[in-house]
Amino acid sequence: MEKFLEKLKQKAFFLASRYELPSFYSKFYHYHARVRHIFFSDPLISIIRERVEVELEKADCLGHGVSHSRKVSWDCATLISIELSGISDKRNYKRFIILGIISGLFHDICRVEENHAELGARKAAEILRNYPLSPDEIGMVCKAIRNHEAFVKPLPCSDPISQIISDCLYDADKFRWGIDIFTSTLWHMASYKKLTERDLLERFPWGLDGIRKIQNTFRTQTGKLFGPEIIEQGLMLGKEIYRFLLESCGAGDEHNHYGNKRN
Ligand SMILES: [Fe+2]
Ligand SMILES: [Fe+2]
Repeated sequence: MEKFLEKLKQKAFFLASRYELPSFYSKFYHYHARVRHIFFSDPLISIIRERVEVELEKADCLGHGVSHSRKVSWDCATLISIELSGISDKRNYKRFIILGIISGLFHDICRVEENHAELGARKAAEILRNYPLSPDEIGMVCKAIRNHEAFVKPLPCSDPISQIISDCLYDADKFRWGIDIFTSTLWHMASYKKLTERDLLERFPWGLDGIRKIQNTFRTQTGKLFGPEIIEQGLMLGKEIYRFLLESCGAGDEHNHYGNKRN
């Protein structure tokens, strides 16, 4: 990674360390802990991780590798646990959590390619055929992957559980548009796309605007309640980094307080 990106990344870590843990993670820590226990101990997840995490290394260049997919898996399955907490029939409860974890693990498997959600869904279907999952379960995972892209209208799911998995995957992926985007993803993407300091500076307001817009797209009840706080933190951190970037480029005078270019 280029020196200026390393410097910005370090600054982002320093600034991010001052932010509180979002309420989603403190309020639902028990659900999150259970999901992580399943993630590291369930035999099916273990064998699937052995297969998929090697592939995910390829997407690491864009900041969408193992770490991103694990976090999405955990948050997706946590959201599923919460969304299903009111149901009386708990027989398949753990199975739905496992499907949420698998959806998170696979969702960015084709991230470096165009139309990665559709291609990822097809690749996941191909791989998952070799594991003990029913065609219906594979269908639910693939539908969720197909529906996870931002600012794209999702396809409706044929049954309520499939809809919950799809919506939870989307929200879990968009939770990454909070602090995570500035402690990890952005610097990998900027390095991969060979952006200069000036390129980054020019694109920053557009990026912040995208983050702002994602706030209104959460799909689950829990996502709608707790997602905006996560995104708000991302926006605040983004603005702090942008100011730092403006100062280090000596461009502070060309831009106003909010980072917009003066006319
Ligand atoms: Fe994606
Ligand atoms: Fe993702």
